[in-house]
Amino acid sequence: MGSLGPSAVVFAYHNIGVRCLKVLLARGVHIPLVITHEDSPSETIWFDSVADTCREHSIPFITPTNPKSPDLLSQVQALRPEFIFSFYYRYILPTNILQQARHGAYNMHGSLLPKYRGRVPVNWAVLHGETETGMTLHEMTAKPDAGAIVAQIAVPILPDDTAFEVFGKLSVAAENLLWDILPRMLEDGDAIPRFTNDISRGSYFGGRKPEDGRIDWSRPAQEVYNLHRAVAPPYPGAWTELPCGKRLTIGKARLSTREPCSLEPGLSVLDGGIVGIGGDGRMIVIHQLLDSDQQLVSAYSLARKLALQNTHVLCAAPSIPTKHLLILGVNGFIGHHLLKRVLETTTWRVTGMDLDNHRISSLINHQAYRSRLVFKQGDMTAHASWIDDQIKNHCDIVLPLAAIATPRTYVEEPLSVFELDFEANLAVVRQTAKHGKRLIFPSTSEVYGMCGDGDFNPDTSDLVCGPIHKTRWMYSSSKQLMDRVIWAYGMANNKHPLDFTLFRPFNWIGTGLDSLRHSTSVTSKNCDDKTSSSSRVTTQFLGQILDGGEITLVNGGAQKRSFTHVNDGIDSLMKIIENKDNVTTGKIYNIGNPQNNCSIRELANLMLSTASEFPEFTDASSRTRIIERDGAEYYGEGYQDVGRRVPNIDQTCEDLGWRPEVSLEEAVRELFDGLSR
Ligand code: UGA
Repeated sequence: MGSLGPSAVVFAYHNIGVRCLKVLLARGVHIPLVITHEDSPSETIWFDSVADTCREHSIPFITPTNPKSPDLLSQVQALRPEFIFSFYYRYILPTNILQQARHGAYNMHGSLLPKYRGRVPVNWAVLHGETETGMTLHEMTAKPDAGAIVAQIAVPILPDDTAFEVFGKLSVAAENLLWDILPRMLEDGDAIPRFTNDISRGSYFGGRKPEDGRIDWSRPAQEVYNLHRAVAPPYPGAWTELPCGKRLTIGKARLSTREPCSLEPGLSVLDGGIVGIGGDGRMIVIHQLLDSDQQLVSAYSLARKLALQNTHVLCAAPSIPTKHLLILGVNGFIGHHLLKRVLETTTWRVTGMDLDNHRISSLINHQAYRSRLVFKQGDMTAHASWIDDQIKNHCDIVLPLAAIATPRTYVEEPLSVFELDFEANLAVVRQTAKHGKRLIFPSTSEVYGMCGDGDFNPDTSDLVCGPIHKTRWMYSSSKQLMDRVIWAYGMANNKHPLDFTLFRPFNWIGTGLDSLRHSTSVTSKNCDDKTSSSSRVTTQFLGQILDGGEITLVNGGAQKRSFTHVNDGIDSLMKIIENKDNVTTGKIYNIGNPQNNCSIRELANLMLSTASEFPEFTDASSRTRIIERDGAEYYGEGYQDVGRRVPNIDQTCEDLGWRPEVSLEEAVRELFDGLSR
């Protein structure tokens, strides 16, 4: 082992870890330490061992279970490496480790970033029917797979490729990519290329579990085939259950080119062979079907298992519970983030309505989502019978997200707020109760009004609004009354209690909150074109910083909010929709981030200092001034405010197994990131 070359501490696992480690060695990099994982006894280990490679090359290696341990930090610190590399290492590395490398920390990620950030990108890409993916070497930052791109290389995904096959191509791609770029990186650590990684154009995906391989035979055959390709062995496989409860997994299969047939969807035996019929009647020819002991199941034995011998065609169509959501206000701030997440990470169906579609047009036009998304453009108040039909006949979960949610409108147009937020939504609540469907309703942090509690608790805090002439509280009281109505519909002494969950977002922020120009994310025809001073505070400040104008601190800016990144909010909302073991039924959840509690003045300063770090905003931000104005003057006489709004999220965390993770600094940086392109 040479020890004179530039040094790198390497975090590595899996085949890509092995191949890239070997590239570093071949290019003369000195590796004083490798950090890898112990193989998990519950995982099929089909890939090469980084630990073995280290042993062969006499490289010291460790397998810590906590990448945040002070011990690991001090080991890396002591080595003072020039580079840190991460090659398929499974933990997110803390920034204090990343900062130890003088010429930066770099990660090899298996996708064409910014697409498919996060976990198991190859499997997700195949699942979504992508025809291309790739390898990206990028700078590591606190946020996963979000740093600048150093180099990237594409590989094709052919129509019948499994994720395993694509992974093989990517291992070679990673090796090529690193071999080519390494000399430049080693020669001059300050001249390493850095291309924008525009994460707003990609998505983050979570891990996958064997359970996620369950086949929904009502889906088109191509989708089922994509699932099979995405998880085919050596991954855990796409599986289905016979009526007797036996689990069968597809080993090998091909999508048939035959015309759709009229057979029932499900597993069948046809002409002596095993086939799977999709919801569109198209067929998958199954060459290898495995039982739970990994033994091959023949067509004959399948026929026997189905207890339907001597028939030409045998069908088992186990239908699985899937979800069909009705989202009203699907183009709004929460609506469009939720829609994206649902389409990208589940097999659920969505019917959506909104006045506009500018935030979701790419989803509406996406080929892969055509069969799962129905969008109707229109005003909910003008399409009551359409909504009723959707609730009654098509959807099982209703999310009425259409609302006016900007304080200026509460002050100036309280009746519009009442008409949409209460009256129009009441009709939807009633229909949902009448047809026995599940309701997930957006209450609001505003219901707590000027409550004096240190943190607001859905079960114990009082809801405190000011006098009637303070029209600011129309939103709060409309939502409060609706919460009470929904609660009453859900009471156990009703003949058919409503299955509901109320969630209370606490100052969610993120891309697409309010438009910088029109600045309201409203779904009422009366209220969608306000002046630029009617957005919520982050949008307001953003617009003013970009203009190099004046940031207004209302009433001095000492009032505080707990700003919550929309991705954290959507994470919890997804769990509410999943409603595992019905735990969320009949509950009210605060969804906010108490860690991000800060004053509006602090927010203004943070946004200004963040803007100054972006070359394109430095000039405007240096011209931006902070001024103070009285609330009545800024919003009107009907304005009144709350000094502090901290959510108590104990119950939310406990029931959902969730906690918010995005810091205010990261959330604000992302707002500017989104604009810097
Ligand atoms: C918001 C809105 O009512 C809803 O979006 C929502 O129900 C709720 O809070 C929430 O997101 O949880 P609020 O936080 O008062 O209410 O509204 P913002 O417009 O975001 O204002 C936050 C604070 O900043 C207020 O104290 C306001 O006076 C102040 N502000 C706002 C300024 O100092 N300057 C501005 O230019 C704008």
